[in-house]
Amino acid sequence: MAGLRLDGKIAIITGGASGIGAEAARLFTEQGAKVVIVDLQEELGQQVTVSIGHDKASFYRCDVTNETEVEKAVKFTVEKHGKLDVLFSNAGVMEQPGSFLDLNLKQFDRTMAVNVRGAAAFIKHAARAMVEKGTRGSIVCTTSVAAEIGGPGPHAYTASKHALLGLVRSACGGLGKYGIRVNGVAPYVVATGINSPDEETARMVEGYGVATGILKGVVLKARHVAQTALFLASDDSAYVSGQNLAVDGGHTVVKPV
Ligand SMILES: NC(=O)c1ccc[n+]([C@@H]2O[C@H](COP(=O)([O-])OP(=O)(O)OC[C@H]3O[C@@H](n4cnc5c(N)ncnc54)[C@H](O)[C@@H]3O)[C@@H](O)[C@H]2O)c1
Repeated sequence: MAGLRLDGKIAIITGGASGIGAEAARLFTEQGAKVVIVDLQEELGQQVTVSIGHDKASFYRCDVTNETEVEKAVKFTVEKHGKLDVLFSNAGVMEQPGSFLDLNLKQFDRTMAVNVRGAAAFIKHAARAMVEKGTRGSIVCTTSVAAEIGGPGPHAYTASKHALLGLVRSACGGLGKYGIRVNGVAPYVVATGINSPDEETARMVEGYGVATGILKGVVLKARHVAQTALFLASDDSAYVSGQNLAVDGGHTVVKPV
């Protein structure tokens, strides 16, 4: 259909079983893409796939910290659809906030393994598949306001998102010669599985975002982040690469007085 922004595109969405990734799976398919949802959460991932329809979405269970599984997920996608145009590398974890004096280094390693190493593995194998097929693809990583400033996020999470932004910029430099763009999308607080195990917590999290946000009158939802990822994934951003596009209502550039 004409006018669809991802018409005929094939996309992998990691962390697509929940939150921002699930919303992106809905939006990308509404815009003409076929998506492979990659996640650890099999039941939720299958539910999202069914709700979108098996003609447009499929689920592949994969732990992004396991490079062999990552390689297999990319292979599954290319075998099923013949190519890969878009990687939305979005899977992430966040540890509980706490004092730096009690920094849990085991947890630190886990956060880095998922948020940084997992993204690196996916970018590597997705880019290989794009280069092999001569696809001028788009890679979008979900960073965070915690990629730009310390304070709002827990310590390991903040370190991991800063590192992820470094990875975005480095991959932008390394993959530009193949016509592959790499960008970040950086949300402020959205009530999702990562911070809201139940509805009451979700209301509290949204309340916190509203109270501390610079831009008033908008409650940040996963849909807003997915729409920004759509822009970066699509040809609408054909010459945009190496950027970290904030969806934060100005949070990272304004110090309230
Ligand atoms: N929600 C927010 O306020 C917020 C703000 C800024 C950035 N982010 C980032 O957005 C991204 C998406 O998170 P969300 O808010 O939708 O949370 P979410 O918990 O709803 O979704 C994250 C998904 O990643 C999956 N995942 C975690 N570890 C994985 C692994 N090892 N392998 C495969 N999948 C794995 C989870 O199963 C989950 O489905 C994350 O990178 C997060 O850091 C979220």
